[in-house]
Amino acid sequence: MKAVVERLVQEHSLTKQDLISLLSCCDSATFSYLRQEATRIARQRFGFGIFLRGLIEVSSYCRNDCFYCGLRRSNRSAERYRLSDEQILRCCEDGYRAGLRTFVLQGGEDGAFTDARLERLIGSIKHLYADAAITLSLGERSVESLARLRRAGADRYLLRHEAADATLYAALHPSDMSYSNRLQTIEQLKELGFQTGVGMMVGVPHQSVESLAEDLLYISRVQPQMIGIGPFIPHRQTPFAQSQAGDVRLTLMVMAIARLLAPKALIPATTALATLSNEGVRQGVLSGANVVMPNISPLEVRGKYDIYEGKSQAYNQNIESVKRLGAELESIGYHIDLSRGDF
Ligand code: 5AD
Repeated sequence: MKAVVERLVQEHSLTKQDLISLLSCCDSATFSYLRQEATRIARQRFGFGIFLRGLIEVSSYCRNDCFYCGLRRSNRSAERYRLSDEQILRCCEDGYRAGLRTFVLQGGEDGAFTDARLERLIGSIKHLYADAAITLSLGERSVESLARLRRAGADRYLLRHEAADATLYAALHPSDMSYSNRLQTIEQLKELGFQTGVGMMVGVPHQSVESLAEDLLYISRVQPQMIGIGPFIPHRQTPFAQSQAGDVRLTLMVMAIARLLAPKALIPATTALATLSNEGVRQGVLSGANVVMPNISPLEVRGKYDIYEGKSQAYNQNIESVKRLGAELESIGYHIDLSRGDF
């Protein structure tokens, strides 16, 4: 297996068969070597700095019905909320004061966030905080809509592809969601000049090692600027309530492979990873991650953005705990980097 990892490091690519062998292999020597190489490659480019992005969860309303997500529209017991522009701007103000230079506006697909409203909001944030980057993570929108948001000043867009294998995509989403539209939207984001993020969950029901290999090949082909990979965590009000959570070790392995396939990418240690492991942030960084996204949503709505079980009780990467995060990173020789960290 060492030869396979060496090939991955040298060529930044692997065949599907090699990816499957690597993902199926569970000896700890290979696991350590893979992570060691992933962190080495990340440090070559980024040093020991870890970028912070302030995450603002703007709405828990969603028109979609994804089988894995607690915010799905069929979840009648979900508590829904939507932040006002004033609330969002206050989050930016606090975040900016704490040193953050990227704001991520993330939410379900909520029709109340019209193009006109988002244009105004993006304009206000850019006017007040001209040196900050704006990342949107608001699901699929028409190309016309995305073009307007880009023109308004949004810099980056996160849209996880969720599954590069069409059969798996269909097993995770109702039939009114389209695999080809998802991938096409990602292409449009790139064409519009957004720094674009893709990604997937590890250990979601029906996912095989083959489908994970497909995800990694997709990442290798697209060379996205950002890659979000976290473990699946079941939510009781979804069809996948009885399923097992994704495996932390496999998640770390997939992250390390993604780092080696896309050496320049920005890869977060996700909240989902931190939810499953107290060591999630550090373990993520030691698998090649170089971004942490502290939650800077207003306290009164935190916990209502209930994508999966336990998130609200999880180690909360909020701005108040940035100091603690700094200390955690220092314990493994890293530090917080407050710069914008563009691709
Ligand atoms: N467990 C882990 N991650 C999830 N997501 C949605 N539901 C879950 C879950 N149950 C991820 C999806 C989505 C992102 C916002 O969160 O990949 O794109």
